[in-house]
Amino acid sequence: VTLFDVVFSGNDTVYGLTENAVDAAIAQHGADKAVAFPDTAYSLPCYFGVTGTKISNLGDMKAALGTIKSLMTREKRLNDVFMSGIATALCAEFIEALKYIDGAAPYEAPCYGHLGDAIIRELGVPLVTGDIPGVAVILGSAPTAQEGVDLVKSYQAQGILVTLVGGIIDQCEELGYKTGANVRVIPLGKDVTSVVHVVSVAVRAALIFGNIQGGDASGLMEYTMKRVPAFVNAFAPLDPVIVACGAGAIALGFPVVTNDVATAEAVNIKVPKSLIVQPDVSKFNATSLEARDIKIKITHIDIPVAFASAFEGEIIRRGDMQVEFDGSRVDCFELVQTKDASEVEDHKIEVIGPDIDEMPEGSKQSIAYVVEVAGKTMQADFESVFERKFHSYLNCVEGMMHTGQRDMIRIRISKDTYNAGFRLKHIGEVLYAKVKSEFAAVVDKCQVKICTDAAECTKLRHELATPVYDKRDERLTTLTDEGVDVYYSCIMCQAFSPSHVCVVTPERLGLCGAVSWLDAKATNELDPQGPCQVITKERPIDERIGEYEDVNEAVRKFSQGALEDVSLYSIIEKPMTSCGCFECICGIEPLSNGVCIANREYAGMTPIGMTFSELASMTGGGVQTPGFMGHGKHFIASKKFMKAEGGIERIVWMPKELKEQVKDRLNATAKELYGIDNFTDMIGDETVAEDPETLLAFLEEKGHPALTMEPMM
Ligand code: SF4
Ligand code: NI
Ligand code: NI
Repeated sequence: VTLFDVVFSGNDTVYGLTENAVDAAIAQHGADKAVAFPDTAYSLPCYFGVTGTKISNLGDMKAALGTIKSLMTREKRLNDVFMSGIATALCAEFIEALKYIDGAAPYEAPCYGHLGDAIIRELGVPLVTGDIPGVAVILGSAPTAQEGVDLVKSYQAQGILVTLVGGIIDQCEELGYKTGANVRVIPLGKDVTSVVHVVSVAVRAALIFGNIQGGDASGLMEYTMKRVPAFVNAFAPLDPVIVACGAGAIALGFPVVTNDVATAEAVNIKVPKSLIVQPDVSKFNATSLEARDIKIKITHIDIPVAFASAFEGEIIRRGDMQVEFDGSRVDCFELVQTKDASEVEDHKIEVIGPDIDEMPEGSKQSIAYVVEVAGKTMQADFESVFERKFHSYLNCVEGMMHTGQRDMIRIRISKDTYNAGFRLKHIGEVLYAKVKSEFAAVVDKCQVKICTDAAECTKLRHELATPVYDKRDERLTTLTDEGVDVYYSCIMCQAFSPSHVCVVTPERLGLCGAVSWLDAKATNELDPQGPCQVITKERPIDERIGEYEDVNEAVRKFSQGALEDVSLYSIIEKPMTSCGCFECICGIEPLSNGVCIANREYAGMTPIGMTFSELASMTGGGVQTPGFMGHGKHFIASKKFMKAEGGIERIVWMPKELKEQVKDRLNATAKELYGIDNFTDMIGDETVAEDPETLLAFLEEKGHPALTMEPMM
């Protein structure tokens, strides 16, 4: 037996199964029956990525089997192995897609099956920042459940996104190990074909962020190889179908590590750095990271529980919590203050008031923590930048949940974490370690004061924190595009969108929502050669659309010539590009002469006739697409939102939940700019209309200003 025999036979098996499944589906539903995965703009994303054809019904699928067959060449070269691997993945995608016919929900907890486009867009920022340094695909059953869970946990502790296929899912359940997208351990499904759901994520990353066109198979494979840091761990025994799937993974650039020594020897595998035999499962982690060249950033933090970005989304229920600090009920706050070097003793952590073991179980308590920093190049403007990171730092603690900011924080600490020995000083350890490591360029010394004495918290909140917040807010309202001398570029997303450049201004934050002008300024200060560079704005070309010669020059340079010129304030003329990780997308709705906005969380239809995923697929990959614009949520209430086309008065529709989130700020801007009261009441949402005609009738009834504005197109 050779590798060729095994891959070809595995491929043939899956092809046969697929053909039968497609025929059976046609016999049952007819060839006109629609077929596509939900919540994606790419129908069957792998097939679309490889061939450029969107399958829309069972008849298309039947015809597409011929295309797949043409990939299944049987010469004995390595390329035949890879193409048969790709063909196997495409077959698996067909089998999985058939499960979704008629809007079925074929997967139930804990399995996810297909993952929507929005999830992939959400992964953009953590992947580029290295918060998620890689993606593991674990397939089959570990020798013992404990070894399987240990492996999962080892990746999770490194922040690696873990996807599970087959027996490992049962092994996690058997040991009660928590899985879910919120802890970055995603069981896909128990059939081996469900592995295609993670392949689909990699393929869509190329389509969404990389501007790879459907049908550009070699561009696609080059993209996934270079930019998607995924790898496979396949447990023994490997059968031919798994080996064929593995060949597909290798074709995409994802190494496969296995403990199946016998099969590996039998097929005499010689695919260096790609198919790796590691008999010791406890070494899978190290072997995989080395094979995929993934480097893990380690910050040593002296706490008794794990610290990893995988725990960021962890939810702690009331019944599981030891104690809660709740800023909505009692006085709580978090604050960063710049001090003179003589006032700061590095790594001093002071606790004032009762510790957690002196608090009744399940009680609500006050907490205030002040991080005092000193440094020669520290600026007061950076205080809020550090402070906003506390949310993520504290959430990364296993068994700790943090929401909100400033004096509206809420923190829960789980019983498990408390029992592991976690106390208040450990909050100080986390804040100290992270502030010192991430802001080393500006912070020389750092100390933390933690207070839980209720009366003292009240006093500090009103006398210390509130005046600081008020002063910062005042500074923010004076931070306008006109009021500053420079803007900043951000090219963080170039890891996935090689030609994308965000131009970040005080009134227009990065489209991911995570980078404000102050953040960009701090990033530049911390790492002058890094992703955020100063852009001057001394040579305006057209103030109306916000075009500057200096901005154009910067964009040309940072996009390596891919982009010529951009405007800051127009959706139609030279709009800014999108990478793919935008929080919202807005698009023109011609009938009402305005724009509709959809946020990533919204899965329904918009009056434009497209869902968020479909709208989002119209732009991305660092390409300009007039009429569509990706943007941050915060930008919606900005005076610069589509200023060239008339500004926020053009907004005619957004999902109800988003409207609620931006309501106060948007209404204030509308009042200030146009004297309109309660502007959001004039804006439609999904409860009012999901089609343009109903929306128009609503807007007419409300007297929405967009109806009488100049035509947009
Ligand atoms: Fe990516 Fe733009 Fe956000 Fe920077 S500001 S991380 S380039 S989306
Ligand atoms: Ni947590
Ligand atoms: Ni991005």
